[in-house]
Amino acid sequence: MQLPDMKQAKVRNKEKSDVIRVNIEPSLIGINKTYFVKTYGCQMNEHDSENIRAILENMGYTEAEDIYTADIAILNSCAVRENAHNKVYGMLGRLKHAKESRKFIIGLCGCMPQEESVANEMLEKHRYVDLVFGTHNINKLPGLLDEAFKKQKIEIFSKEGSVIENLPVKRDSNIKASVNIMYGCDNFCTYCIIPFTRGAQRSRVKEDIILEIKELIKEGYQEITLLGQNVNAYAKDLDNDYSFSDLLAEISNLNILRVRFLTSHPWDFTDEMIGVIKKSKNIVPHIHLPVQAGSNKILKLMGRKYTKEEYLLLIKKIRNSIKDVAITTDIIVGFPGETKKDFLETISLVKKCEFDLAYTFLYSKRSGTPAALLEDDVSKEQKTERLKKLNVLVNSLALKNNEKYLGKKVKVLIENINPKNNELISGYTDTFKLVNLVGDKEKIGKVITVKITEAKSFSLNGEEV
Ligand code: 5AD
Ligand code: SF4
Repeated sequence: MQLPDMKQAKVRNKEKSDVIRVNIEPSLIGINKTYFVKTYGCQMNEHDSENIRAILENMGYTEAEDIYTADIAILNSCAVRENAHNKVYGMLGRLKHAKESRKFIIGLCGCMPQEESVANEMLEKHRYVDLVFGTHNINKLPGLLDEAFKKQKIEIFSKEGSVIENLPVKRDSNIKASVNIMYGCDNFCTYCIIPFTRGAQRSRVKEDIILEIKELIKEGYQEITLLGQNVNAYAKDLDNDYSFSDLLAEISNLNILRVRFLTSHPWDFTDEMIGVIKKSKNIVPHIHLPVQAGSNKILKLMGRKYTKEEYLLLIKKIRNSIKDVAITTDIIVGFPGETKKDFLETISLVKKCEFDLAYTFLYSKRSGTPAALLEDDVSKEQKTERLKKLNVLVNSLALKNNEKYLGKKVKVLIENINPKNNELISGYTDTFKLVNLVGDKEKIGKVITVKITEAKSFSLNGEEV
């Protein structure tokens, strides 16, 4: 048994992390048995689940229709806010109940068990959870599972270790794919648990990234998303003078329709990046740039390393350089010490930035983070009230931005048929606008030109031209 240690997870050593190229041997252990992986949280977790699925299929397991019929039920969890925790605990409760009438393995992995309190709870109170592993040892799943059949197996490494290459992957889509370019984060924004659960920043070497993208192009993928907690800090941990803008420039020369990237930190957003995006034909004009708050006092308490003035200047530069760019953001409401005046500064910044979309969150205290030591002094009512006000503004700006598309012709990469109405198809513009229109399944995977006829806050309707 190996339990996590948040103090160790906080340590950042100077040395560059090495690369381990794994070779997971296929087996037939899972033949005639099924698995189901349920994912919570961010795209990083979604992508980890794509690795977990492939490892299980490599062992002979096949995917079950749903979690309640699976022989191996795995929850890939998120720790970023309390409500993500609650959802996972709710699901564990339901699986515990299901286990009273049927024998199967319950696994918990991802960010939650990287927290000391969660791992300890699994050990002390949730003995029905057979397997607990973290974000740093997914590659060891076959051996861990083997032990979990005998007795509860908990293995969490707090020290992140190496960059693992060659993990098998079973991708959710054959149109668009996620490509990790780096793991972990060294920013330690004071509210955030991720630097603890995902460890120190480790960039993949560019040759491995380019090779993976070239393979995806060969397989017919049309869109890739470069993933990382802080993508634009890419290569800062490597021993070279290569940077994220160099990587973007190199990838933009590859023969792929669209290149997205997320998430960017304003602190690491360089003029070179803006220049590369402006010149390139396939790096999409959509930038997700979390601002988190609009008051300098709160930004400082959050450890975000920029002022609202600097953020506004960056937005201005981006808008002046990249034609018709869409900008989205993340905002936290009710951080400790946030007064009405601070909140109104957030409102004012949102108005100035005219975001295409903002993902808004109530502050959630995460034990072990620096902000957890601050008094959580904004009342629940105030937090909810502020979130409501912010969402009204965010939605109206989203609608206003979408209305600019009315009557325009846009290119849409069609991804699927509407599950509720099979006469409708949908896909995204390069600016990440969801577009619905009448069409058939032949269009899936194709880029079509659509004239926009109706704008809503979160989607557009149109017709093929
Ligand atoms: N409470 C609320 N929101 C948080 N986020 C990260 N940590 C917290 C927290 N403790 C939000 C940030 C981040 C997004 C992924 O989640 O806005 O950008
Ligand atoms: Fe968390 Fe800040 Fe790192 Fe984003 S940049 S993962 S918010 S610590």
